[in-house]
Amino acid sequence: MRMPRGGRLFLATCLGSLFVLVLYFQSITNADCQGEDSGRKKEPGVKTDSRPGKSRRSPLQTLYKGDQQLELLAAQRSLHGRRELLEQACLSHTRKRQVLSPEDLKHLIVDDKHSLIYCYVPKVACTNWKRVLMVLTSDGRYTDPLAIPANEAHVAGNLRTLSEFSVPEINQRLRSYLKFIFVREPFERLVSAYRNKFTRSYNTAFHKRYGTKIIRRHRPDPEPEALEKGNDVSFHEFVQYLVDPRTQREEPFNEHWERVHSLCHPCLIHYDVVGKYETLEPDAQAVLRLAGVEGTLQFPTSGKSTRTDGNMAARFFKHISPFYQKKLFNLYRMDFLLFNYSTPEYLRTR
Ligand SMILES: *[C@@H]1O[C@H](CO)[C@@H](O)[C@H](O)[C@H]1NC(C)=O
Repeated sequence: MRMPRGGRLFLATCLGSLFVLVLYFQSITNADCQGEDSGRKKEPGVKTDSRPGKSRRSPLQTLYKGDQQLELLAAQRSLHGRRELLEQACLSHTRKRQVLSPEDLKHLIVDDKHSLIYCYVPKVACTNWKRVLMVLTSDGRYTDPLAIPANEAHVAGNLRTLSEFSVPEINQRLRSYLKFIFVREPFERLVSAYRNKFTRSYNTAFHKRYGTKIIRRHRPDPEPEALEKGNDVSFHEFVQYLVDPRTQREEPFNEHWERVHSLCHPCLIHYDVVGKYETLEPDAQAVLRLAGVEGTLQFPTSGKSTRTDGNMAARFFKHISPFYQKKLFNLYRMDFLLFNYSTPEYLRTR
């Protein structure tokens, strides 16, 4: 169903009515959000705990009312450009009418103390963002993000999500909080998810839950052992699984390979800051600055200064036929368009 532009805009800005609906569940909820290449290390985070200032401006006010100094920053300008681009892309590419329900807001983490909302995307440094948000919301119980074990950062209940609030509370927060998201080149993220979930021997839960099914459906003449363990899924089989229409008919994608578009609803929720994994450090710093905690808290990074290794996906796609490359690109197309990632050079889609 098509909506007129005005209607879409109205929906997008207003977000007035939240309907309760579709309950979807994921049996594997522990997000391992990191790029596997960005493990925890180096640079302990915090100097002191963060005291919310008395009459400081909210992050949202800081961003939009802006002091001169901030506006001059190149980082600030590119964040602005990304926001505009996202808005334009949403206007030209969103067709379906969508209405959000509280269920759709499970990935949005709320920090009431600093007026922040963060939508977490697995494989895009989300463990570290969760750690940082635990520090920010902990009333001093935690001071160093890296002192928080990764599994604890993923315990449901350690952080509040927007879906836990009432509709008026949700709307109030969406209006007045700084909403941010971090994204990554879609195929780099996908390959990172594949490598982490299917090529590491310890991820037996994923092997059992997804690997066995993928092998059963997409491998001709599988060995009994492979069928039982599901621990040697090839990237090609994984791609076949993703583009198989049955897969999404049966259940939503696991969050590690679900599209950002579906996890975070960037055309309905107006993110104020779109950070990128490729420029994680400056972008994270910009968010912490807006939140007024730049001086007290440092975003944990892997110490690697360049994240533009960006060629992992090319190696994996070499062995994927043009037919499947095209299908896969169509599947992730919105994430490319909305976040200004260009079509990878290595793709052979025609
Ligand atoms: C979008 O990507 C192009 C090409 O990489 C780049 O030149 C441009 O600055 C980007 N636009 C924004 C708003 O980030």
